Amino acid sequence: MIILKLGGSVITRKDRDKPTLDPVNLDRIAQEIARSNVDELVIVHGAGSFGHPYASKFEIGSEITDEKEFFRKKRGFTLTQNAVQNLNHYVCNFLLKHGIPAIALPPSSFMVCENKRIKTANLEMVERYLEMGMVPVLHGDVVLDDNKNIQMAVVSGDQIITYLAENLKPERIILGSDVDGIYNRDPKAHPEAQLLPVVNSMDDLEFLEGARTVDVTGGMAGKLKELLDLAEIGTESEIINAGNAKIVECALKGEKVRGTLITKNV
Ligand code: ATP
Ligand code: IPE
Repeated sequence: MIILKLGGSVITRKDRDKPTLDPVNLDRIAQEIARSNVDELVIVHGAGSFGHPYASKFEIGSEITDEKEFFRKKRGFTLTQNAVQNLNHYVCNFLLKHGIPAIALPPSSFMVCENKRIKTANLEMVERYLEMGMVPVLHGDVVLDDNKNIQMAVVSGDQIITYLAENLKPERIILGSDVDGIYNRDPKAHPEAQLLPVVNSMDDLEFLEGARTVDVTGGMAGKLKELLDLAEIGTESEIINAGNAKIVECALKGEKVRGTLITKNV
C-alpha cells in the first residue's frame, strides 16, 4: 500500500484568502496517478486556501471562553468542514474523471482528537474500501476534541498521514509539496538554498543558518516533525514536488526522483 499526500499548496492557490482551486495541477496529478497503476493507494490532501482562512478566522482549536465564543466556534467549525469538503469533492471529481475509483472519507465523520492529536479513528472503512480496490480520499479537516476547553480541533493532512501509517503499515509514504523537498532554508525566500536528499533529525535544520525560517513559515517544520516521529518507528517517507510534471507518476512507479527521504537516525 502507498499513502500519497497532495499538499494544499499544490492543488489550491494557498496564497489566496478565498477558496481557490488549482485545476491545472489537479487534473495533471490525477492523470499521473491513473497512469501509475498503483495496486493499493490511499490519498490524503491538504486544505490549502479552502480550510485555512476559516480555521484561522474562527480560531478553531483555541480555548472556548464562554457561551458566545462556543456558538461562534461551532459556526466556524461547520463552515470550515463545508469548505474542505468542497475541495474534497473537486479532488474526487478529477480522480474519477481519469478512472481512479476515488471514495471520499472526511475525517470529521470518523476521527476524534484529544489535545489536537488524533485519539481514535475507525479505520475499518478505509480498510474495507481498500479491499474492494477503491481509493480512499481523506483530507485535512476539523474534528471534535475530547479536551473540554477546546472541544474542536484542526487536524492536518500530515497528522492524518502519520496516524494512518502507524495503523495501516504502508510500504511507502509519498508527500507531494510545491517544493522539491526539504532545504537548508526556505527555498522560496532563498534561491541559493540547498536541497537535503536525506533528513533524519530536526537538528539537521537547526544547526544550519536560516533554519528558523522553517519555523516561521510553519508548513515544512510541522510536516517534518510528524515525519520524523514516523521514521523513529521505522516508517520512512519521501517529500517530492507534485507541482512539476511526471514527478508524482515516477515516484508512484518506484522510480528515483529528486526529493528528500525522511529516515531514522542511525
Ligand atoms: P499543505 O501543508 O498546504 O498541504 P504542503 O504539504 O505542500 O501543503 P506547506 O505546508 O505549504 O506544505 O509547506 C511547504 C512550504 O514550506 C514550501 O512552499 C516552502 O516555501 C516552505 N518552506 C519553509 N521552509 C522550508 C524548507 N526548509 N524546505 C522546504 N520548504 C520550506
Ligand atoms: C488543515 O489541513 C485543515 C484545515 C485547515 C481545516 P492541512 O494542514 O493539511 O492543510 P494544508 O496542507 O496546510 O493546506
